[in-house]
Amino acid sequence: MRKQVERKRTVVVTGASAGVGRAVACEFARHGWNVGLIARGEAGLHGTIEDVVRAGGRPMAFAADVADADAVSQAAAEVVAAFGGIDVWVNNAMVTVYAPVQQTSAEEFRRVTEVTYLGQVHGTLAALEHMVPKDSGTIVHIGSALAYRSIPLQATYCAAKAAVRGFVDSLRSELLHDGSKVRLTMVQLPAVNTPQFDWARSVLPRKLEPVPPIYQPEAIARHVYAAAQAAPRELWIGTSAWKAIVGNMVIPGWIDGYLARHGYRGEMTSVRANKHRADNLYEPVDTDPGAHGRFDDRAVGHVAAADPKWLKLGLAAALGLVAGTTLFATEAQGRHDARRQSAGRRLACRD
Ligand SMILES: NC(=O)c1ccc[n+]([C@@H]2O[C@H](COP(=O)([O-])OP(=O)(O)OC[C@H]3O[C@@H](n4cnc5c(N)ncnc54)[C@H](OP(=O)(O)O)[C@@H]3O)[C@@H](O)[C@H]2O)c1
Repeated sequence: MRKQVERKRTVVVTGASAGVGRAVACEFARHGWNVGLIARGEAGLHGTIEDVVRAGGRPMAFAADVADADAVSQAAAEVVAAFGGIDVWVNNAMVTVYAPVQQTSAEEFRRVTEVTYLGQVHGTLAALEHMVPKDSGTIVHIGSALAYRSIPLQATYCAAKAAVRGFVDSLRSELLHDGSKVRLTMVQLPAVNTPQFDWARSVLPRKLEPVPPIYQPEAIARHVYAAAQAAPRELWIGTSAWKAIVGNMVIPGWIDGYLARHGYRGEMTSVRANKHRADNLYEPVDTDPGAHGRFDDRAVGHVAAADPKWLKLGLAAALGLVAGTTLFATEAQGRHDARRQSAGRRLACRD
């Protein structure tokens, strides 16, 4: 009897040449997946190919810009032709501009939107083309706490991340409407130690840094891998992300003021910025820094994550408890008042 050979599972990761995307590619490789890699810079892609092979995966790389929908679609088709399908697609690529809104040009807003928001739309369209006919597959959207709570000096990026959230929620309802088994999950990240802070475009006077606590990309990648398997509606990683998201739901006005006072300082170090350094907004800074940024001495290797549905269930249970207790107390008070009234009537009759 001929044994049926099981097809190895395949993931495509955009923005796979550095930072979170590179760590995610390696995490899937560690679990033996075929890994499609999309990014622009060839030096970084070559480094990732070597990492993926070392980790036990089979790589296939594409030098493509996620702002180019046709190039992304073409890469997806080639992955399917080579590996037989796409099981998971991770939309991760991003660019940003660190600048106050009034020092950001319309063209810079357009470019960040094209990469950070539309890049996720293009990846999703390419993935759906192959997943919907098979009625299976999971699309992972790499988000941020900033998808819920915008911060000063990064309007381009925060707005694009919020747009991704809006896009994902619409699409999720459509897939449910169609009875599709294709799953979507959005993972909201805290600050991560990646090269972003040394190649993002910036007009700020001092060197950039993520707002602490900072986590290592591998710690994030483990949660992204788990989210790709379980596909929670959303996964919020780290207490800092939880605080920002929930805080913004409860006291957004107070947070506006807090960020006005502390936000600017929080996004910069005390070291003067090099005004002439290259940035990656339109073209890659074609080097191979790996997954990590310059914050290894401060970055934490483990982080907790939780599905926010537990928060919502907890809140619903707490509200139910309060409502139940109030109802019980009101009824008990009513019974007590009725007893006093009838005792009063009995006394009145005796008189
Ligand atoms: N680092 C953090 O603190 C943090 C916090 C919250 C969320 N996140 C999220 O994590 C994800 C990764 O961020 P990161 O910090 O790892 O960024 P990063 O270090 O700057 O890496 C970005 C990756 O995207 C690729 N990329 C950039 N523009 C691209 C384009 N137009 N087409 C294709 N690939 C492109 C880059 O490679 P090339 O330049 O070679 O194309 C690189 O591989 C993003 O979705 C970000 O929003 C990060």
